[in-house]
Amino acid sequence: MINILDKKFVPLITTEAIETRITALAKEISTDYKGRCPLFIVVLNGAFLFASELVKRIPLSCEITFIRLASYSQTQSSGSVREIIGLNDSIEGRDIIIIEDIVDTGLTMAQLLRQINELSPASVAIATLLHKPEALKTPVDIRYTGFNIDNKFVVGYGLDYDGMGRNLDAIYVLA
Ligand code: XMP
Ligand code: MG
Repeated sequence: MINILDKKFVPLITTEAIETRITALAKEISTDYKGRCPLFIVVLNGAFLFASELVKRIPLSCEITFIRLASYSQTQSSGSVREIIGLNDSIEGRDIIIIEDIVDTGLTMAQLLRQINELSPASVAIATLLHKPEALKTPVDIRYTGFNIDNKFVVGYGLDYDGMGRNLDAIYVLA
């Protein structure tokens, strides 16, 4: 059990399990994109650790860029989505792989996908470390999922509770 600010969290997914799963996802992506040069779009802040562990295991020619957008305050999804900040690269005709920390309601990802698709990429795939299938409010086609988890708030491995806990090397769930 750990304390973050006013809340207690218990371990959910170990470092070893996360790394084993990321290695498998990296193999899958490396096979699927063989001979292509994908552009990874990493959604900050939450996906920074997952993205770094994933891309260093993918021996493809590729590019990596970073965007920001947020729809979350404290432990409840607000559903409101902000614009994409930081996408300066042209993505027309590119094979895009969006790297996200978690797909919860899916509202953020659905809107991001709409905006990305308007820029005429050749293809778009989503890689998310975590997914809460029960929380989904809109269908989202996720190509690569690390773990499906219950509809409970989690922190660690990039995910935060009010800015805290991103540096934890495992995933913890609200007790
Ligand atoms: P939606 O609901 O739009 O949410 O799919 C996507 C964004 O909300 C954040 N999020 C979480 N952050 N623990 C967190 O630390 C959670 O359990 C959680 N659920 C959603 C996250 O930033 C994600 O990109
Ligand atoms: Mg996020």
